[in-house]
Amino acid sequence: MMNDPMTTAKAHANLALVKYFGKRDVPLNLPAAGSLSLTLAPLTTTTAVAFDEALKEDEIVLNDAPASAAFAKRTRRFLDLVRDRAGVRSGCRVRTSNNFPTAAGLASSASGFAALALAATRAAGLALTEPELSALARRGSGSASRSVPGGIVVWHEGRAADGSDSFAQSILDHSQWDICVVVGIASEEKKAVGSTAAMTRTATTSPYYPAWIDACRRDLALAQDAVVDRNFTALGEIAERSALSMHAAALAADPGIVFWTGTTVEGIHLARTLRKRGVEAYFTCDAGPQPKLVCLSKDVDAVKNALETLGGVLRTITCRLAGPASLV
Ligand code: PMV
Repeated sequence: MMNDPMTTAKAHANLALVKYFGKRDVPLNLPAAGSLSLTLAPLTTTTAVAFDEALKEDEIVLNDAPASAAFAKRTRRFLDLVRDRAGVRSGCRVRTSNNFPTAAGLASSASGFAALALAATRAAGLALTEPELSALARRGSGSASRSVPGGIVVWHEGRAADGSDSFAQSILDHSQWDICVVVGIASEEKKAVGSTAAMTRTATTSPYYPAWIDACRRDLALAQDAVVDRNFTALGEIAERSALSMHAAALAADPGIVFWTGTTVEGIHLARTLRKRGVEAYFTCDAGPQPKLVCLSKDVDAVKNALETLGGVLRTITCRLAGPASLV
């Protein structure tokens, strides 16, 4: 285990159609309600890990440069969970890279902690089941639980105080539906408010927060039915209202949390205009300004062309469903 070549894993980002935005336990990243997401190619984090007794402290490299203090601290804390579980005491070398912008509302923490969970547990000699790995990845970032399985994924709210039943599972294999997502990159800046701070402020100050959590539970059940029925219209409508409701709750926090720019709002109107023209596209957006349009593969060129001509969109990334986190 020690000093051996690095263990490398890759994991994909994910996009929630029924959003997670609220925690019932902050240290354990336990969600106030379940969520549903698409695991997305080509958005990938690749992470190589080796434990090495010669290392005095962990060495963390992100995108070929030494990681920032904040990134290194978060990574170290996660490695401590793995060390505790495996009974390993040595330092760790981590090299991680994303093939998409870091921390711009594209869930790089999701793919990042999913890849780190798999690479680090294997490097430490542990062989976790997929639910165990998902629950562990959740400790790094809630949405990372959803980047462990592939295809269409449900992250269970769970009941257990220790979080052991709050993990994500695939409900549809990635080969079973040709759903696509076109991400409009409106900004490559880091987001202004981190998701945990935004969730806490929304939970404690937004008058809409209890209604938002009720809506999540209803929408999760409906979205699962829509996936079973392959009803894209139903799933798209749920996705658009879940995103708008999440942002409505955050906008009503005190002080209000505004992830959107003008380009984001134009993206909402674009989805509606496209639908009137017979192109079935639905808007969604996370803790950043990027408008994301969900469609079926037959419409992906029309959606991409329309999003690329929207003012403020620098470029687009077209995504399709991806498989689970895996060793390289
Ligand atoms: O995993 P976190 O703590 O970065 O939270 C992500 C939350 C949203 O992206 C805004 C919504 C979601 O369900 O992914």
